[in-house]
Amino acid sequence: MDALEATPAIKQEIFLKDYQPPHFWVDEISLCFNLGEKGARVTAETKFRRNSKTDNALVLDGGPYMALESITVDGTPLDERAYTVSATALTVHSVPDQFLLKVVTKLDPVNNTRLEGLYHSSGNFCTQCEAQGFRHITYYPDRPDVLAKYTVRIEAEQSKFPVLLSNGNRVAEGSMSGGYHYAVWEDPYPKPSYLFALVAGDFACRNDHFVTASGKHVELNIYVAPDDLNKSDYAMASLKRSMKWDEEVFGLEYDLDIYNIVAVSDFNMGAMENKGLNVFNTKYVLASPETATDADFSHVEGVIGHEYFHNWTGNRVTCRDWFQLSLKEGLTVFRDQEFTSDMASRSLKRLDDVRILRLLQFTEDSGPLAHPVRPEKYVEINNFYTATVYNKGAEVIRMMHTLMGAETFRKGMDLYIGRHDGHAVTCEDFVVAMEDASGLDLKQFRLWYSQAGTPHLKVNITCSHGTAKLTIDQSCKPTPGQPDKKPYHMPLLVGWLDSAGNPICPNIGAGGKWLKESCLLELKSPREVFEFMDVPEGAVISLHRQFSAPVKLDHNLSDKELAFLMAYDSDAYARWEAAQQLASRQFLSEVNGKPLIDGAFEKAFHFALRDEETDPAFVAELLTLPSEIDLGQKMQTLDPAGIHQVREKLIKKLALENKEYLIKRYTKLNTGVYSLDQTSVAKRRLKNILLAYISVCPEGATYVETQFKAADNMTDRMAALQLLVHSDYENRQELLNGFYETWHSNALVIDKWFSVQALSKRSDTVEMVLKLVEHPSFSFKNPNRVRSLVSAFSMLNQAAFHISGGAGYRFLAEMIVKVDAYNPQTAAKLVAPLGRWQRLNAVAMRQMQESLKWILNKPNISDDVRELCLKSIE
Ligand code: ARG
Ligand code: ZN
Repeated sequence: MDALEATPAIKQEIFLKDYQPPHFWVDEISLCFNLGEKGARVTAETKFRRNSKTDNALVLDGGPYMALESITVDGTPLDERAYTVSATALTVHSVPDQFLLKVVTKLDPVNNTRLEGLYHSSGNFCTQCEAQGFRHITYYPDRPDVLAKYTVRIEAEQSKFPVLLSNGNRVAEGSMSGGYHYAVWEDPYPKPSYLFALVAGDFACRNDHFVTASGKHVELNIYVAPDDLNKSDYAMASLKRSMKWDEEVFGLEYDLDIYNIVAVSDFNMGAMENKGLNVFNTKYVLASPETATDADFSHVEGVIGHEYFHNWTGNRVTCRDWFQLSLKEGLTVFRDQEFTSDMASRSLKRLDDVRILRLLQFTEDSGPLAHPVRPEKYVEINNFYTATVYNKGAEVIRMMHTLMGAETFRKGMDLYIGRHDGHAVTCEDFVVAMEDASGLDLKQFRLWYSQAGTPHLKVNITCSHGTAKLTIDQSCKPTPGQPDKKPYHMPLLVGWLDSAGNPICPNIGAGGKWLKESCLLELKSPREVFEFMDVPEGAVISLHRQFSAPVKLDHNLSDKELAFLMAYDSDAYARWEAAQQLASRQFLSEVNGKPLIDGAFEKAFHFALRDEETDPAFVAELLTLPSEIDLGQKMQTLDPAGIHQVREKLIKKLALENKEYLIKRYTKLNTGVYSLDQTSVAKRRLKNILLAYISVCPEGATYVETQFKAADNMTDRMAALQLLVHSDYENRQELLNGFYETWHSNALVIDKWFSVQALSKRSDTVEMVLKLVEHPSFSFKNPNRVRSLVSAFSMLNQAAFHISGGAGYRFLAEMIVKVDAYNPQTAAKLVAPLGRWQRLNAVAMRQMQESLKWILNKPNISDDVRELCLKSIE
């Protein structure tokens, strides 16, 4: 470790406990952008007002990539001794209590590969300011609790940049000399700098409108590259559905006359909720049946909704400081989940969300990067846009919703918005509003915000003379900086089935209450005991319905009881989880060398496959085995190769045992014309799961190839392509090349082409991935491309990433360093898998730590990457 001390973090840790209100408020800012490919000149005129009686100097945030050209206070140019500029701040030593500061900065957007602040993407200018990008545009108090009114003038060459956009309403436009033109935008709502946005470029526009509940006409525009206009319908339809849904479910209406969305192909995240001007990653706007899968369509709808819902939860009511990020993100993820549930299938959406939470958040919570939903400190805030802040944050909101019910929750939301509209507030303010509306005491519940780690419930069920006793022990393992955990307050939904599989509601004593078919149990103490009376002979309990709390849960149900739940439970999550657990039991005993003789899972699989009554999409879920990563989370010592082998063996066994029926049902489903309605999506989902089983049978190649060649939509084509890539079919490479040739000009489709290869189950995947980095279409500068290859491989392909010898780790380390030279934020997002060495064998453990050290010893590594590597190595 000695060598590491030569390169300490440049940035200091920032602590929640140190929060101080700003010394100056800003009432108004007027910005003028003169944009050219050789550079951009930004003139900022800001009206400051002193906040305290102190005589503090004016300290403004600023980045190292801009040049200060001039500075005046109330019209008087400042003498050089009157101010100091550093790499991170501009200090004006003495200022009056109120004044107008005029600052001119020069930026270089074309060479901005960090994609933060003002940058260039595919010939267009755009901005990304959350969390701290505005400081790379001009000197400013770049913190979310400073709210100001913005006026923005944009000047650019008319022919190259016909579209000029910013927040709010367009109040003027016109032409200038030299082929330039300008537009002026005014946003009437005071906002923090992170919600500022600007776009200048050449786009095609899909135009529509929406009439709000109170009758206001809102102009809707989606700006995309001219060739992509035909792929913007679904985004527009999703936007209109979002607007209607927020009115109906939360009584929240849109508040400006215009709503603009722009799609750009170089973007660090999914999308950004800038007031009135959302900037999106093309991945979450563009979709057509030929180029997007059913899952892609659903993601477009979800992200369009998410950014729209931010208009109230994030923009109108914003965060006091970045420790409160989950105030807007957790709540808005909850809202987009509810929206999607209402648009399609609530139960299937819940399964998707649980899977994502376990895959990303549970892994995060069990490793060195674990942090609370409301973190207490950070070096680089961009490193805290995590599954914990977003997805666990949404689960925390959902638990409050479960504890108080939808109606009361709505009252709490009304209270929250009513109290805090136009202000920058904290997670605490949200919880207080919920307490005030419900009368619940959420004191203990607040631990969900401050304690990291995934709680573990152990449920023991005993039955005698018709009384069922439930003993529930909760615990939570230590996480970095938090050795001891207090017990959480959480809702646990349970239900009962009689021996025929019908729902029953046996009497419950104190501490539980029946809500329709499920009983809400509130857990608070390390051990809770509940009793159900008059439980009939042969009844089976269904636990953790709806995944009512983000916890791991173990119980003493038998294989037989799980198979029963898998067949009859009316709660989709509990039914699916029973299948997952049954399959996991079989795996784990096989991985540990003890094959199960009675094959309870195989029988249940056989039964589910022949179930023609249940929604085909849900049948598909029941037939999908737990992923290698899921299985890995259940092992004391992680054995990626062993898991992979046993899982493949079981797939083959199930396929061969059921071959005829698989083919029969597949063939029946593989008919009809393409449609995007729910029934068709469900059928495709099942059909493609069946094809995956068929693909490992001797006649598999024919089926896969036929589907690949005949497919008239991307869902079917990709499903077949993935199976081809896994296989060693004769013409595998030829078809893969053919796909590339056909789609090489569509970036989002080529991303998929990289991903399927990164996800290959073959043993030569690492070599393949290494070669793909050299492919002319690979780029270290485009985040989507980097993620499609590098993240897919390292985060989702457990067996390949952990291949013995450490080639996967060295590959990832090299990618991190290469990407970091262009784009620290995106590089930092790649680090996490290298920190998950705790449960591996000693050799792998050492190789992973070596890779982290290798990164840390590189000169010029970013603070973003350094913060995560240092935490990961500990
Ligand atoms: N607020 C955006 C969203 O969740 C995320 C943007 C964050 N960007 C960043 N570079 N950290 O909708
Ligand atoms: Zn968000």
